[in-house]
Amino acid sequence: MTKTVLMCPPTFFDVREAKNPYMGQAIDRKKAQQQWDALRRSLEDSGLKVELINPVKDLEDMVFAANQVFVGQARTGEKFIVPSHMRYPSRHQEVALYVDWFRGRGYRIIDLDLREEYLEGHGDLLWHPDRSRIWAAYGFRSTRGGVEKFSAAMANMGFPVTPLQLVDAHCYHLDTSLCPLNNDAALIYPGGFSPKSLAAIRSGFPRIHELTRDEALQFMGNGIVANGRFLTPRLNEHLSQILAKEGLSPIVVDTSEFEKSGGSAFCMKAFLD
Ligand code: ARG
Repeated sequence: MTKTVLMCPPTFFDVREAKNPYMGQAIDRKKAQQQWDALRRSLEDSGLKVELINPVKDLEDMVFAANQVFVGQARTGEKFIVPSHMRYPSRHQEVALYVDWFRGRGYRIIDLDLREEYLEGHGDLLWHPDRSRIWAAYGFRSTRGGVEKFSAAMANMGFPVTPLQLVDAHCYHLDTSLCPLNNDAALIYPGGFSPKSLAAIRSGFPRIHELTRDEALQFMGNGIVANGRFLTPRLNEHLSQILAKEGLSPIVVDTSEFEKSGGSAFCMKAFLD
């Protein structure tokens, strides 16, 4: 089965307000476009189909397609999304645009009535690779209450959710410190989690590969697993060895412009199936 991902061109990508510790430097828009094009090509070369949502002026973070909705498929086969409530008001309009995109393609919309709670899509919510369960983090962007509302809705559909508490501000989204490689193995940055959360992750994956804080801050845990490949912004001997053990071949994709906004490869797409 060909997997499909959704991406948003970086036409209006920019760094404006500091929403996370990485944000501060100006971006080079031309370079950003080239890096995005190369990422898209690498995904296609890996056998994935890429669908696009139109970028919108002044929505400078819309390129981070992992955040606006959580995408899933019910056990009945029905496709659904859970819209996010983004912590920063400058990202609120993005959610409605993504919801419209999915609505137009027949996805059921599960609205959680999040009110004062926040939930940031696949930035903080990750499927276990076999889709049997969901890892859900809170602490910096999503709130504990947001994760609780999400868990209740998923429990109704037969998907257990494990809440995880994030504790390192540089790893403000779950996708910066947990990267499942397959059903049994994950890359993690242990310092990103509270002790109890770390124990939950260790019991959920028989093989845990630990990244150092420096590796995590270089977004080496923000890669994309695609048909036996691992798209990563950087590769060192340590990561090469881990990937070899897990039977994945590394593909390096430069995402330096997007890292100035606190995101890398994983943040720039949403898996649709
Ligand atoms: N500038 C964006 C923000 O702070 C980056 C989002 C990164 N996305 C991710 N899935 N980690 O909201």
